[in-house]
This record gives sequence, C-alpha cells and structure tokens, in this order.
Amino acid sequence: MTLRRRMVLAFAYVVVLVTVVLGIPLLASVSGRVDAEVRAGASGEAHLIAASASGLLAPADRAALRAKLRSTAADVGGRVIVVDARGTLLADSEGPELEGDSYADRPEILTALREGRAVQDTRSSDTLGGDILVTAVPLVDGGRRVGAVRVTQSTASVRSEVRRDQLALGAIAAFALTLGLVVAWLLAGSLTRPLTRLAQAARQAAAGDLGVRVEEEGSAEQRDVARAFNDMTGRLNASLNAQREFAANASHQLRTPLTGLRLRVEAAALRAEDPAMRRDLEQAEAEADRLGRLLSGLLTLAREGEERPPLRAPTSLADLAEEAAERWGPAAGAHGTAVVADGTGHPVVAAPAEDLGIVVDNLIENALVYAPDQSVIRVGWGVSRGMGVLTVLDEGPGLSPQDASRVFERFARGSAGHGKAGTGLGLAIVRTLARRWDGDATLKNGPEGGALATVTLPLHHPAGPALPGAGTDLGNSLPAGS
Ligand SMILES: Nc1ncnc2c1ncn2[C@@H]1O[C@H](COP(=O)(O)OP(=O)(O)OP(=O)(O)O)[C@@H](O)[C@H]1O
Ligand SMILES: [Mg+2]
Repeated sequence: MTLRRRMVLAFAYVVVLVTVVLGIPLLASVSGRVDAEVRAGASGEAHLIAASASGLLAPADRAALRAKLRSTAADVGGRVIVVDARGTLLADSEGPELEGDSYADRPEILTALREGRAVQDTRSSDTLGGDILVTAVPLVDGGRRVGAVRVTQSTASVRSEVRRDQLALGAIAAFALTLGLVVAWLLAGSLTRPLTRLAQAARQAAAGDLGVRVEEEGSAEQRDVARAFNDMTGRLNASLNAQREFAANASHQLRTPLTGLRLRVEAAALRAEDPAMRRDLEQAEAEADRLGRLLSGLLTLAREGEERPPLRAPTSLADLAEEAAERWGPAAGAHGTAVVADGTGHPVVAAPAEDLGIVVDNLIENALVYAPDQSVIRVGWGVSRGMGVLTVLDEGPGLSPQDASRVFERFARGSAGHGKAGTGLGLAIVRTLARRWDGDATLKNGPEGGALATVTLPLHHPAGPALPGAGTDLGNSLPAGS
C-alpha cells in the first residue's frame, strides 16, 4: 500500500473516530433537547391560554376564543381545544364543527378536571391515528375549576424535527470527513513527492549518472535525507572520477616506456644471431604488443562514464564496413579467410568513425581469432527499428550458453578463448563505445551457426536534407536475430 493511501486511511480513521465519539452523544442530546423544547412550548402555551381563556367562556366571546386558539395552534403546530367543567367542547382551533361534543372520556381531560392539575403525556390517538403529545391544563376562575385547555401535537412532527437536526449533523460529519480526506491527500502528496523524486534520483545514480542531485525540499527530515543523498552521490562521483583519472594516467604513462621497450626488443631481435634467442625476443615483442593493446583497452574503459565529447562528424556504416573489410583483408587472407562487406542502404549514425573503427576492429579480430581458417567473415549494415545496425557474422563455433551472459564483462573470456591469446577486454570496449553514443552491442549465435555480433546506433538526423538511403527501414535484409 502506498504511503499516500496509508496516510489517507489514518486520517479517515481519526475523523471517523472523532465523529463517532462526539457525534453520537450530540445526536442523543439533540433529540432530547428538541423533545424537551416541544414539551415545554406546549405546556407554556396551554398555561397561557388557561390564564386568558377563563374570561372568554361566555357564548358571546366564542369567536374571540376560537381565534386565540387558532393562533396558538399555529404556534405549536398542533390542535388546541377548550372544554367546560363537564368536558363538553366549547371551542376548537380547527373550527366549530365538533363544539358540543363530549371530551370527558379523554384521560388527560379527566385528570385536569377531576384533580385540577396539569398533565402532559404521549398516547395513541384513534382520531389522528398515530402517537400524539397531549398537554392539558385546568381552567380556574375564582378558585373554581371551570374547564380545561388541551393542546395536542403529533409526535411525528417532533420526530421529523429531530430527524432534520440529525441529518444536518450527519451532513456536517460527512463534510468534515471529506475535508479531512482532501487535506490528508494533499499532505500525503507533499510527503511522498520528495520521496518519489529521491527514488527516481537513486535509480538514475544506480544507472551510472552520479551527477544526479535531488532538490532539498519538504520537512526538515526530508531535507536532511536529500542532503545526505546529494553528499553521498557527490563523494561517490568524486572518488570514481579520481579512480578513473588514475587508471587513465597510469595507462598513459605506461605507454611511453612500453613503446621504448618494444623498439629495443625489436632491434635486439634483429641483431640476435642465435635463433633461439631471436625466437625469445620475438615472443617478448609479441608480449609487449599484447601489453600495449591491454593498455589501450584500459584507457578506453577508463573513459567510460565520462561526459562524451561532442560529435564532430557522423559515420556512414557502409563506408565503415567497407574500409574495415579492406583493412583486414591481408591479415585474414593469411588464414585463407575472406572478409566480405555486404549491407543495405546508406545508414549514417550519430557516432564518430574513430570509436566505431575500434568497435568493428575488435569484432572482426574476434571473428578471425575464434572462427576456423578458410572461412568467411561478413560485415553487414542496415536499419532496424529506427536504429542503424552494424553486424559481424562468422563461421566459428559461436557461443555456449554460459558464455553468452558474460562475454561483455571486463576480462571475461569464453570457451572459444581457451588456448588463444586475448585479454578479455575487446567486447567490453565494444559495448562501452556503443553505449557512449546511445547505442548497444550484443553477441549471439547466428541463424546458421557462427557468432553474430550486432551493434545498434542511433541514426544521425542532419538538419539539412537526408542522405539518400539513410533511415530507410531495411531490417529484413539483416541477418536474422539482429
Ligand atoms: N566471434 C566469436 N566467436 C566465438 N566466441 C567469441 C567470439 N567473440 C568473442 N567470443 C568469446 O568472448 C570472449 C570475450 O571476447 P573479447 O573480445 O572480449 O575478449 P578476447 O577476445 O578474449 O580478448 P581481447 O581483449 O584480446 O579481444 C572470448 O574470449 C570468446 O570466448
Ligand atoms: Mg577479442
């Protein structure tokens, strides 16, 4: 579960808890208060009528009495009647139709008339159907009980008032909950945003970009983490740069004495008269050559991760392949092997010819070393999925499954390398150089055997008109698997 969701849930829990803990007693008190208010109101009005109606009992005052009852009935939202001492209806807020009827059988009227005290009760009414709240007050004139006033209200109206209040409270609780959730969502966002950025930056650093920095934002703790992250990647970057510089300097410094050594060994070999000594010196020369290649490789790899230089000129893959085939022709010919350049179109890629020359030389050299004599090495080119593709296919043993996963590692040598001279840096250099220019390199078995090396590179998009053939998708013309 995301941090944001957790926070929203925690907030929701607190808001719901507070609403329940405070809301339920509040609801109970609201319904009690409304009930008490209605009862007190009815009792007050009944007493008021009782105080003023005793002077209006004469038939001549009946209309005035009725008007009074009507206005009170409207105030309390019910019905108000006045009965005489025998319980006969004298006046009714609802009109004169029932006047003269006996109400003596109503329990509240009986109590008011017989016991002379006010009563308030809820009972069910057959006339109205449903529960009613009745309030009866005796009418006293000169110490005599001359009748009674009765106020009746339907309890449904009381209940609906309570329900209205409850609904209003519920709406307030829902509003508070929604507001709480929105605040929690925003707050959680402000907490998780720096975390998400930090994770992104960490991934970027893991992918090799140690120059990445995160913004120091958010709470003090979040800023602290961001600062620590920036410090860490900064130090890592500095120490990596120092190491790289050291490797580059060491390789560079070693080259001069190595060249001197090689020249001296070569001269000594030429002067040596003893054939055994000459052989030894020639082997020493070959070893010096190997050491020189190793140093060049290390120098190239030491540059890995450095900011790449600006591209001065793009490279035509067809030209690159044809020149390489020509360059390697004599060396391959000595083994009876042919290097054939054969591709489609004229893709031009955004990478310099010097780097691509090293790439193709390493691949052809591998094909020559690991494939048998009297075979054919095909150097191909084309376009696949919008990328320029360079391939080198040989007729050698190909790769064993264990080799496939590790031949690009530095100093890794596969099964084909057993018994053959090599440093295990060639393919690492190929991949480093391809990736430097946003491309990649793979080596797998060809469709009909042999090893197939594939280098993909982004096509160069010149500002001017495109070169003829560049960018045409000719993926199908490439060896399968490229
Ligand atoms: N064309 C190929 N056919 C079969 N195996 C290959 C081929 N190219 C590379 N390999 C395997 O991959 C391994 C690594 O190759 P890589 O070019 O990196 O190093 P290397 O050839 O051993 O040494 P060097 O640094 O001198 O090139 C080789 O040892 C070999 O086992
Ligand atoms: Mg090699």
